[in-house]
Amino acid sequence: MFFEQDHGAVVRQASEGGKDAPHRPVLLQETLQCLLPERGGLFVDCTLGLGGHAEAILESSEATRVVGIDRDPEALRLANERLAPFGSRFRSFHGDFREIRFVLEEGGERLPSGILADLGVSSLQFDTAERGFSFRFDAPLDMRMNTGGDEETAAELLTRLSEEEIANVIFEYGEERKSRRIARKIVERREQGRPVQTTSELAALVERAVGFRKAAKSIHPATRTFQALRIATNHELENLDKFLETSIDLLKPQGRLVIISFHSLEDRIVKRTLRRLSGICECSSRAPVCSCGAQRRIEILTRRPFTPSEAEIDTNPRARSAKLRACSKLEDTLAA
Ligand SMILES: C[S@@+](CC[C@H](N)C(=O)[O-])C[C@H]1O[C@@H](n2cnc3c(N)ncnc32)[C@H](O)[C@@H]1O
Repeated sequence: MFFEQDHGAVVRQASEGGKDAPHRPVLLQETLQCLLPERGGLFVDCTLGLGGHAEAILESSEATRVVGIDRDPEALRLANERLAPFGSRFRSFHGDFREIRFVLEEGGERLPSGILADLGVSSLQFDTAERGFSFRFDAPLDMRMNTGGDEETAAELLTRLSEEEIANVIFEYGEERKSRRIARKIVERREQGRPVQTTSELAALVERAVGFRKAAKSIHPATRTFQALRIATNHELENLDKFLETSIDLLKPQGRLVIISFHSLEDRIVKRTLRRLSGICECSSRAPVCSCGAQRRIEILTRRPFTPSEAEIDTNPRARSAKLRACSKLEDTLAA
């Protein structure tokens, strides 16, 4: 089991600026090695963030273009500034990557040579106190990636859901064994007319519910709960499998799909979906017929996922939990 961790050190480097980009692209060399952007063509960066991966893709060849998608308007604004020197070779769209088919159609773009999704949260998001992603700052419990939208904040979610639903979210998305105890405390506060509204209130409540053990290497007790709430607020796992499948539809033959995930729930979905798309049946051995739709459409390029080297983790602790999986679309699979 691995978690996306909230690393103060990385974030501080980020806000200090200087030669360090505010968000260091994770597993950058491995990403380029799988995407092969030097072949030229169109590359879709579905999680543009601050444009670190996109910039490296654009720098790899004059014949390469990038379409970037992000649902965070602030990330898009900063990436647009950073990538402006590439002129018409770079275009960006505000939206959810699950709408990739629509985004490409609207933009008149077809047959990408590569698609990248570097899932999760950027350092910019963790580092901006008022975004409410981090228990390192006292801020309203917002956690929405799309600040421009009218989706529920994490605090609103905790006000609307029943105790059982809150426990299920924390258990499923945070793999937190003490989810029921945490949910009880959240609802107790609500019943007393003091619903949880801030990151500090939630972190303190979880610490009390779970018990704070200050072992040097253990994760903060609120890590799992914060991860769970963020996933639920942003619907991060919904339709991830469909997105992967759509990406394979859209790629040109021999096009590459690269996915970087930061926690085990995401990685499990990516691993299973790629296996199914490579023709490996995921049905139970007792099932009389296959119902998972396994069909050989891709070749998996990463039998084992790439993970960051010690050197990368030293310079960028946020990379610690990253796993990169990649595949290539087979020649005879027609693009939709
Ligand atoms: C880990 S960061 C990407 C960093 C980027 N690769 C770079 O080098 O700067 C993830 C980004 O994906 C965005 N994101 C997450 N889920 C998304 C979704 N479903 N649709 C569009 N953007 C999403 C987040 O807003 C965030 O900016």
